[in-house]
Amino acid sequence: MENYILERKCRICSGENLQLVLDLGNQPPANSLLEKTQINEGELKFPLRLYWCSDCFLVQLLDIVSKEHLFQHYLYMTSASKPIVSHFEKYAKSVFDQFLKNSNNPLVIEIGSNDGSLLGEFKKLGVQILGIEPASNLAKLSNDLNIDTLNEFFSLDIAKQITESRTPSVIVANNVIGHIENLHNIMEGIKVLIGKTGVFIFEVPYLIDLIKNLEFDTIYHEHLSYFSLLPLNNLIEQFGLEIFDVQKQDVHGGSIRVFVSVENNFQINDSVKKMINDEHEFGLEKIDVYKIFSVKIGELKKDLKQVLVDLKKEGKSIFGYGAPAKGNVLLNYCDIDNSILEFIIDTTPIKQGKFTPGTHIPIVSPSNIMKKGVGGTALLLAWNYEREILEKEKESRNNGGKFVIPIPSPVIK
Ligand code: TMP
Ligand code: ZN
Repeated sequence: MENYILERKCRICSGENLQLVLDLGNQPPANSLLEKTQINEGELKFPLRLYWCSDCFLVQLLDIVSKEHLFQHYLYMTSASKPIVSHFEKYAKSVFDQFLKNSNNPLVIEIGSNDGSLLGEFKKLGVQILGIEPASNLAKLSNDLNIDTLNEFFSLDIAKQITESRTPSVIVANNVIGHIENLHNIMEGIKVLIGKTGVFIFEVPYLIDLIKNLEFDTIYHEHLSYFSLLPLNNLIEQFGLEIFDVQKQDVHGGSIRVFVSVENNFQINDSVKKMINDEHEFGLEKIDVYKIFSVKIGELKKDLKQVLVDLKKEGKSIFGYGAPAKGNVLLNYCDIDNSILEFIIDTTPIKQGKFTPGTHIPIVSPSNIMKKGVGGTALLLAWNYEREILEKEKESRNNGGKFVIPIPSPVIK
């Protein structure tokens, strides 16, 4: 099949002891929204299956859709989700205070800089910035906003080119390491960029949260690796680098922020050892945890569909709230199509007017829907912003509006 390969080796340890732990069926890439004219054209679908490496414990996809197909035009924009913007504001400030404020004219590089939201926060703090972003629409948007951005996939070659003229103090990468197929090439590039004193800081969703909260919908073709500290440590040590700190972050359903430098550059925080111990105790090194996870996902699918079908029988009209990529995994896996959801509202301008892949539900602007007095029942596809969204829609809820929260088990609020 064009644009697709089936990998046979673990992305971190190259081992071949890979066990299938969850099968979500054939799915279209989760961000490939359709124009109205494309609805009847037929869509490319690819297997979506989760594997666990019993050697280094990396949980990963082996069904690889080409990165050019997934990322060159990208619809996810950080700035569309206010909670993420405020997360980035705090993030930049804390990195500045810890690593940059005493440096002379420091440079921060971001890998996968999206629309430049995080770099914009560093810029406000007077820091030099450079973004590296493969999506041409987002790189252009960033450059138009004076966020200096290279329109490239990050690689060892790009790292070498940059260090010919500049030395970054900090490299950041948020929700992007899990998207990268050749992790070894990337780590070589990082090693070149951080040299002897630089720091690499990245955020990724945390596997234990994914398993505990049954966040199966965060599994999609863009996300090739689902990290815990155990395999990350293995990867990073292969390059003479060291994880010297790790912090839990309450974003994207539970994430970790990981701090890396060359060996012996920083004292290692106790948080690293503690998290690895927690991972032993949770059982990430045994297959049972994943088997139980898989069974629970099957039950969740049935329960959620039943809740929505029952609401429909009561005569309720239901719409989707938020059209994140993960929403499309949930809709496709649970067979929730346009006979159940009439439309989906989303704040991202470039998503509005398009249709969801596989399920063909129209995406519209929230502006006309959530105005005062409108009740209705919303399936919260952007469940990671539950707190903020329920607060934002207080008025509608006071007027009888209800939310179905799909995970970890469907509840109506
Ligand atoms: P994310 O979970 O990947 O950040 O995507 C969230 C999606 O939900 C994104 O398309 C923006 C959308 N959204 C809304 O429509 N309304 C909101 O209030 C928030 C927070 C997000
Ligand atoms: Zn492995």
